Amino acid sequence: MTSSAGTPASAHQIVLVQGASRGIGLALVARLLQVKTVAHIYATSRQPERSEALAALADQHPDTLTCLPLDVTREDDVARAANEVRSQHNTLHGLINCAGLLHEPSLRLRPEKRVEQLNSAALEAVFRVNTFGPMLMARHFAPLLMHDQAAVFASVSARVGSISDNHLGGWYTYRASKAALNQFTRTFAIEMRRRAPHLVVLALHPGTTNTQLSRPFQKNVPEEKLFEPDFVAERLLRHMMTATPQDSGRFMAWDGQDIPW
Ligand SMILES: NC(=O)c1ccc[n+]([C@@H]2O[C@H](COP(=O)([O-])OP(=O)(O)OC[C@H]3O[C@@H](n4cnc5c(N)ncnc54)[C@H](OP(=O)(O)O)[C@@H]3O)[C@@H](O)[C@H]2O)c1
Repeated sequence: MTSSAGTPASAHQIVLVQGASRGIGLALVARLLQVKTVAHIYATSRQPERSEALAALADQHPDTLTCLPLDVTREDDVARAANEVRSQHNTLHGLINCAGLLHEPSLRLRPEKRVEQLNSAALEAVFRVNTFGPMLMARHFAPLLMHDQAAVFASVSARVGSISDNHLGGWYTYRASKAALNQFTRTFAIEMRRRAPHLVVLALHPGTTNTQLSRPFQKNVPEEKLFEPDFVAERLLRHMMTATPQDSGRFMAWDGQDIPW
């Protein structure tokens, strides 16, 4: 998935956004619909019909946008979606993992301040979405991304997953899930460098973005550091579309800067 700067744009790229019902994933879908080189977009979510915004985009772009049901914690769903894409296009140029979990009252999940607040049900739920999800996506979609054209496999990670940047502590479960996602990203990039030299594997930090996920924690974020999803989508796509194989394995922020592991 690269830009076609200097050459006439021809729509040929097939891209999948995993976790597209709202927030950053939804904004990526809306942006991708405007990219001239993108021929088709798959938008996955647990219940696509329950996202009015996604359903409206699908109504407006019936030939370009396909919504697929996919709960990323269910490997059957992931395999079924991969088969669906394989049967229709047999190839992908971009895959972006967006689904993420930070807080969820029904799971008694809140970012922890003290180690006593850890609970195994919440740990399992967060790791299943934030870490195992992108790993299962790689497991089932890698064959579609391994070809001789430019392609990108990206996961939306978070700066708090950086170990060397951790000076505040807290948020045990979320931090650990993203740190593990980062290690997976690096490991997958190393394997793909050998097996699919045209595939770029990235972990991306979006910056604090005004979505449901960050809403309870926005109080102390200065206005200029709280981004809208559309701004973030534009930045992340720009980096994905200009990335080269030399960038594979990077943990990159919305502004293109490397984040230390
Ligand atoms: N917002 C920020 O400030 C910020 C900062 C750093 C990193 N991030 C990361 O950015 C990514 C996107 O977050 P966001 O801010 O856009 O959050 P959001 O608005 O809360 O969206 C989260 C998405 O995850 C999906 N999801 C949750 N569980 C799922 C499951 N089991 N299977 C499939 N999809 C599932 C939700 O879909 P449903 O409709 O099915 O619930 C929703 O589309 C996350 O990975 C997050 O960790 C966000």
